[in-house]
Amino acid sequence: MGEIEYAPMDMSHYDAVLRLWEETENIAVGESDSRENIERYLARNPGLSLVAIDGEVVVGGILCGHDGRRGFIWHLAVDGNCRGRGVGRELAERCLKSLADEKIEKCYIIVLENNEKGKAFWDRIGWCHASGVRLMFHLVGNECGEGC
Ligand SMILES: CC(C)(COP(=O)(O)OP(=O)(O)OC[C@H]1O[C@@H](n2cnc3c(N)ncnc32)[C@H](O)[C@@H]1OP(=O)(O)O)[C@@H](O)C(=O)NCCC(=O)NCCS
Repeated sequence: MGEIEYAPMDMSHYDAVLRLWEETENIAVGESDSRENIERYLARNPGLSLVAIDGEVVVGGILCGHDGRRGFIWHLAVDGNCRGRGVGRELAERCLKSLADEKIEKCYIIVLENNEKGKAFWDRIGWCHASGVRLMFHLVGNECGEGC
């Protein structure tokens, strides 16, 4: 394995990143990850999402965006063969740096309660737990209660 390079994610990375997400445990790939939706996400949040590349192989990916007020990170994944080398930390820290450059003061991530390794990772790299919070959602366009 050579030196890992980091680059803004663009649509030329889409197929490789989607494959990585699909092959990575605890990453739930869905309709919001379609080519069209990711293209729109990247256009709305230019330069914030990243890939990690080893040679020509995408070995890491992270989606990052903000709404002008708060940042959000999604789908951090590192190829199983490249873990433990600081790639995950580097991707997350680069995102925080980009958010800081855009004057965003807080960034959120959703971690599945049963993702013990994921939780240990975020703890280790210094993320804080949000206490007393319930995550809620509503499917847009559906009547209240549908799909819950
Ligand atoms: C979580 C994940 C991104 C970590 O990537 P990684 O490149 O292996 O992490 P790093 O090498 O940057 O680790 C950073 C620090 O976290 C620690 N860490 C990483 N995984 C850990 C684990 N499972 N348990 C405890 N500590 C862990 C490392 O030891 C390191 O600490 P150090 O800098 O003090 O040595 C990777 O395991 C992964 O893709 N997991 C599956 C997808 C996932 O769960 N993503 C998060 C969704 S919320």
